[in-house]
Amino acid sequence: MSHEGEEELLDYSDSEDITVSASTATAPAAATEGTAQAAEDGLAIKQENGDKKGSYVGIHSTGFKDFLLKPELVRAITDSGFEHPSEVQQVCIPQSILGTDVLCQAKSGLGKTAVFVLSTLQQIEPVDGEVSVIVLCHTRELAYQIKNEYSRFSKYLPDVRTSVFYGGTPIAKDIALIKDKTTCPHIIVGTPGRLNALVRDKFLRLSNIKTFVIDEADKVLEQPDMRRDVQEIFRSTPHQKQVMMFSATLSQEIRPICKKFMQNPLEIYVDDETKLTLHGLQQYYVKLAEREKNRKLNEILDTLEFNQVIIFVKSTKRADELNRLLNECNFPSIAVHSGIPQEERIARYKSFKTFEKRICVATDVFGRGIDIERINLAINYDLPDNADQYLHRVGRAGRFGTKGLAVSFVSTEEDQQVLDSIQSRFEVNISPFPEEGIDASTYMNS
Ligand SMILES: Nc1ncnc2c1ncn2[C@@H]1O[C@H](COP(=O)(O)OP(=O)(O)OP(=O)(O)O)[C@@H](O)[C@H]1O
Ligand SMILES: [Mg+2]
Repeated sequence: MSHEGEEELLDYSDSEDITVSASTATAPAAATEGTAQAAEDGLAIKQENGDKKGSYVGIHSTGFKDFLLKPELVRAITDSGFEHPSEVQQVCIPQSILGTDVLCQAKSGLGKTAVFVLSTLQQIEPVDGEVSVIVLCHTRELAYQIKNEYSRFSKYLPDVRTSVFYGGTPIAKDIALIKDKTTCPHIIVGTPGRLNALVRDKFLRLSNIKTFVIDEADKVLEQPDMRRDVQEIFRSTPHQKQVMMFSATLSQEIRPICKKFMQNPLEIYVDDETKLTLHGLQQYYVKLAEREKNRKLNEILDTLEFNQVIIFVKSTKRADELNRLLNECNFPSIAVHSGIPQEERIARYKSFKTFEKRICVATDVFGRGIDIERINLAINYDLPDNADQYLHRVGRAGRFGTKGLAVSFVSTEEDQQVLDSIQSRFEVNISPFPEEGIDASTYMNS
């Protein structure tokens, strides 16, 4: 993290007079409902005196109906096929619907999105011309995806309008939407750059904001340019509001930075990093030279069964080249990266999400948050340069307790070091990819 970014945040928080100290962070005690499973899955809830781990009170099968949500929401939840809330939902929703600030780490694919989508929809009282909820995240596709989650869960709340704003699209359209009281969204999802541009030029007024959410909060706040935009946006919201932040990874370093935006948050962490790996996910590596990668990838795609596969590479150029190569070999793949025009990027995201395409070569723009139901194979053609990013990437497969497979290519000394750190930090056993391949029934969901 840059020193410059750090200083700026300190200046800012001083001027805003947010007085939350790590040692006094508290959360209402009722937060322990339904947390037996949470304890099993390693969620630690901080309560009362910040550094004390919460006690866990188990109750038998909590259902969505126990949250006493609006009937319109319960209907939409049922329509979505959600039967039981996940641990993170059980732990957070009873608190978040009361307006408590939430800082939440929970592993990939377990439904953090529904926590903030449901609780903001539960609390919202839409007034025409007033924006009451703002949700920020680090990529445009994720913003688009979150907007669709709002659409899905607000389908029986016809008075609630949600819009998504991000760069690479004409800003005039966003402005026209905001200006007209009958189209002005009550909930805005977006990326920090575009939203800050709208705020700075006074097209977007945030004086009625009730809830401020950051998804993938560590990523958003670690990147100095994004953090600056977030600070600017935050500054134009009222002091009294709910703040919620989420990620599968929240390092010790980023937690106090997140908490500077909050007042007495409910804090949920996975302090035991070994609990961050996904049970349904089998993980393998292949040691090989750089020049052998294409042949090996070809072989894997030819021999392994999969529903959908995501292949991660480290640059936009490599994404395009690998994609071209796969197409030449008759693998119908698409590439997604930041060098592609925005409209086309969203079109490709949609074609992958709707199963029109089964193979996607992507940079880290798809490395976090992206939820594609049928991905059951994640390949690191290029290994990421840190263990956290590995965790996010492989979390694209094996979502919500489903089975999946991750295969990582290890070709350099640095790759080996990253692999070692993944294995030691998460105590996960990543085995050499077996010569004879892998029995499909062990990673394909029936
Ligand atoms: N209670 C539930 N029952 C069934 N499916 C659920 C439930 N909650 C969430 N899901 C589904 O699980 C998938 C993963 O959810 P989501 O994208 O919110 O995970 P996440 O925790 O944000 O993961 P990541 O850290 O990768 O962003 C989604 O397809 C979502 O619809
Ligand atoms: Mg998410």
